[in-house]
Amino acid sequence: MADRIISTSFGIKLIYGSLFVCFLFFTAFVYTSQVPDTTSLPTRELALQGKHIWQKQNCGACHQFYGLGGYIGPDVTNVISAKGKGETYVRAILTHGTATMPNFNLTLKDIDALVAFLQEADKTGKSERHHFMADTYGQIHPKGNKPPQK
Ligand code: HEC
Repeated sequence: MADRIISTSFGIKLIYGSLFVCFLFFTAFVYTSQVPDTTSLPTRELALQGKHIWQKQNCGACHQFYGLGGYIGPDVTNVISAKGKGETYVRAILTHGTATMPNFNLTLKDIDALVAFLQEADKTGKSERHHFMADTYGQIHPKGNKPPQK
């Protein structure tokens, strides 16, 4: 058995040598293979602009993502994919405002960007919608619970 090639010093060199060659090939493969671009850059750029508008206009003063934010307006995490709502509905609200949401006189470009931002937000996960109401003292209560009488 002692004459098996594996147990000779040449055999050991052969094993280490071939492992090293495999390592070199694999390294070359990893460094040269193209990583597929799954994020389409233009959309993400637009979404980033939308995020800046969101911050500049302080939309978060009234709206929440994942239940965090102001409570005058609804949670908008999934408004883009919500049944009966969606992009057209969002565009209409952003264009005209409502009785309770101000019209920010946004340009069409701003609205495109905000929609892209909300689409990106929607992709991050699902947020259960929480409903809140403010009492006359400005305290926030989950909707349905009667505010404490004072
Ligand atoms: C002063 C508070 C306030 C601010 C600031 C505000 N909103 Fe609103 N928004 C509301 C209220 C209230 C509603 C609910 C309107 C209704 O149902 O009539 C609403 C509704 C919406 C809706 C529809 C949500 C749904 O699920 O029906 C979207 C989308 C929205 N706002 C986006 C924005 C964006 C984007 C901004 C910033 C440019 C913004 N809002 C700023 C108060 C606000």
